Amino acid sequence: MQSTFPVFDPASPQAESIRDLFVQVLFISAGIFGIVAVLICVALYKFRAREDVPKQDFGSHRREIAWMAGPVIIVLWIAAISIKLMLTINALPVQYAKGGEHSDDRVDLIVTGHQWWWEVEYVGTDVVSANEIHIPTGKKLRVELRSADVIHCFWVAQLTRKMDAIPGHTNYVWLEANGPGVYQGRCAEYCGTQHAWMNFLVIAHDPDDYEAWVQRESSEPAPPSNELAEKGKAVFMDLTCSQCHAISGTPAQEDFAPNLTHLASRRQIGAGVIENSKENLHTWLANPQAIKPGCKMPNFKLSDEQLDQLVAYLETLE
Ligand code: CUA
Repeated sequence: MQSTFPVFDPASPQAESIRDLFVQVLFISAGIFGIVAVLICVALYKFRAREDVPKQDFGSHRREIAWMAGPVIIVLWIAAISIKLMLTINALPVQYAKGGEHSDDRVDLIVTGHQWWWEVEYVGTDVVSANEIHIPTGKKLRVELRSADVIHCFWVAQLTRKMDAIPGHTNYVWLEANGPGVYQGRCAEYCGTQHAWMNFLVIAHDPDDYEAWVQRESSEPAPPSNELAEKGKAVFMDLTCSQCHAISGTPAQEDFAPNLTHLASRRQIGAGVIENSKENLHTWLANPQAIKPGCKMPNFKLSDEQLDQLVAYLETLE
């Protein structure tokens, strides 16, 4: 899954270009450092005797031009390769994206940063999800980034560049994966208490599997199949849960908090803070503030009976 040095383990053409630029700049910097370090050592050795005053040099136009021109050429070269990279990896805002390979003004995904989770809308479908972005492999998707509150930063190191999600302003970024896999995404801009737990996963599928996933995700979850889950659904709808969350096909239709339509199929709870399991769901609902202090979900002080019922219901949302 998460690689130790994700920038050096790129999994998309965009991330490969970023890695290449990083390595080039690293080698140029290492080269300059090496030359300067050697010259300092030579000077230290050559002029080590205190009584010797070195032969004085009162200027050389040739050398002055060389040490001015050298850095200028290096800086221009780094600027040129950086600009080339930016033109390759930056998704133009829709209104400017005319002509060329991506002449269509489509947006594939709308990702909105919230304190402290990510909302994901799949344009052209009814699917709305949270903290997991499913994509087909080999397709360059234009992601529109928004924010519901403060500035966040969308970053999947193995797939794409960082891009801020800013309230009142839309940014765009390409999202693409060479092969199927699970890639770690993070918020890369400090955005409040739980910035560290504003993670998400990008899950890349083969195109056929992706279509099947969209089909599954577009469907309404099956009604609760047992009495416990039935009671849990009543708790969800009657208590405050339904005043913040949405579950497709039910009266719960609010978008203040993550959409829970297919919660049981997700891998994590609370934007990566814990794995999604029955036990963890129970712990989370018992007191979200104990697991993710400061998050917008309060401790509802549910009884053990209510917790069991709610978990049983949420587990049916596959
Ligand atoms: Cu959102 Cu940091």
